[in-house]
Amino acid sequence: MSLKTTNPTQTKAWSKLEKHFNSIKDVQMKDWFNKDAQRADRFTIKWEDFYIDYSKNRITQKTIDLFLELAEEVNLKDAISKYFSGDKINKTEDRAVLHTALRAPETSKIFVDGKNIIPEIYEVKHKIKTFTNKVVNGTKKGFTGKPFTDIVNIGIGGSDLGPAMVVDALQFYKNYLTTHFISNIDGDHVYEILKILNPETTLFVIVSKTFTTQETLSNANTIKEWFLKSASKQDIAKHFVAVSTNIEKVKAFGIEENNIFPMWNWVGGRFSLWSAVGLSISLSMGYNNFEDLLKGAHKMDTHFKSETFDKNIPVILAFISIWYNNFFKAESEAIIPYSQYLNQFATYLQQAIMESNGKSVDRNGEVVDYQTGTIIWGEPGTNSQHAFFQLIHQGTKLIPADFIGFAKALHGNKDHQDKLMSNFFAQTEALLCGKTEEDVIAELKSLNTNQESDNQIPFKVFEGNRPTNTIFIEKLTPESLGKLIAMYEHKIFVQGVIWNIFSYDQFGVELGKQLAGKILKELNTTSVENHDSSTTNLLEYYKKLT
Ligand code: F6P
Repeated sequence: MSLKTTNPTQTKAWSKLEKHFNSIKDVQMKDWFNKDAQRADRFTIKWEDFYIDYSKNRITQKTIDLFLELAEEVNLKDAISKYFSGDKINKTEDRAVLHTALRAPETSKIFVDGKNIIPEIYEVKHKIKTFTNKVVNGTKKGFTGKPFTDIVNIGIGGSDLGPAMVVDALQFYKNYLTTHFISNIDGDHVYEILKILNPETTLFVIVSKTFTTQETLSNANTIKEWFLKSASKQDIAKHFVAVSTNIEKVKAFGIEENNIFPMWNWVGGRFSLWSAVGLSISLSMGYNNFEDLLKGAHKMDTHFKSETFDKNIPVILAFISIWYNNFFKAESEAIIPYSQYLNQFATYLQQAIMESNGKSVDRNGEVVDYQTGTIIWGEPGTNSQHAFFQLIHQGTKLIPADFIGFAKALHGNKDHQDKLMSNFFAQTEALLCGKTEEDVIAELKSLNTNQESDNQIPFKVFEGNRPTNTIFIEKLTPESLGKLIAMYEHKIFVQGVIWNIFSYDQFGVELGKQLAGKILKELNTTSVENHDSSTTNLLEYYKKLT
């Protein structure tokens, strides 16, 4: 059964939201805080080790109530139940969307085409665990009998970004193995990594759901050739494993069946780190940490599935995001983690969010006349404060931002942690309150400045009223990271349901791929044909230079 199709802008709730928007769009959040001592408490959700404060948003209780009506009108509850139970909600590809099954307990029963998929999930988990243990304890050895020192994940998009982000984020929990990620078709990227590797002690994990992706296959072939310069064909079995749904293609590449970790069509690439795509995570930090990551995600799944919408973290965050995207017409959203460990988090979310909800055709096949997918970008604080915060504070654009912070430092340096967190708290306060002209004048007076500095007054005013969510977590652990990632996955789902789009296909990446294939052939022939004049000139110039 498919999802209900409702044009959100034709609902009663949407019209009410439009009216409501006009009545509150110019109100200062500061005034709401001044009038209502309970505001922060009312707009905070405390769940497990998460403290989500969404009070610094341009919303009132009525905003949330109207979104709850909208959720009712688009039948969000029914959509959630279809999502978790394996209905083929990815209709354009005729697939279920079941990354949640990958973290479900062994006792669950989830059916796809009449078959319970839980036993095969656990079979693969067992294989990941056994393999991880052998590599980590050194019983699995390379072709010269030495234990492995390095792991190389070869994959792109969902077969790279998730594992790469998690391995980086959880480096505190890592073992002695050094993990590398090769994704880009750029040969320089490949050779820069190969030059530091020893073929005798390196394990290659080729990750490709389809095993047809140009980047991954080219990189894997180049690496195989490099490996065969020091080893023989029989040694491939000791050093290359693959994760894929396409068992035949993997075997044709030369990988033994025993070295294949299967995955399934009901796992979308960008949601696949919980499957064997996460093998490099398990190898880097041990299977138990990988399990804890999944455990955290499962806790968030349970929260999302069972909590009422008014206290449901992914649902509330999705409402707020739609509020800015569709009513305030915000052009983008920023993700600012106050943890260097989450350096790759915004990049990871760019694929998860923008590949999912960057759609302009609704579930009826009609072109939408309202905004959908948000543009995501960001960098860790405090670095980002010294890069683009000027624009967030004083630019002309409204940029709602998620501030993600952890109370406890992993290495326990209180001095640094207090400084980091004081910035974390100060920034959302500054964005909320701004600085009035009176404040600026008072400050200049107190500094005893001269006439000249009066000219600076307009430039030193901060409008404020800039919205933020504070996602405040006790400590960065595999479990809390699992919860955080799953929180965004479900936010994506809710937004897709409300926007009436299909979030789980990605046809938009195909056109460029097709054209690149055509151009690649032309680069090796004398003729360049049938392009716009700009592309023709560029191709001819490239040929002249190379
Ligand atoms: O970028 C398009 C895409 O299909 C992503 O959705 C996917 O994560 C990536 O390519 C890699 O695909 P594969 O795992 O099949 O190599």
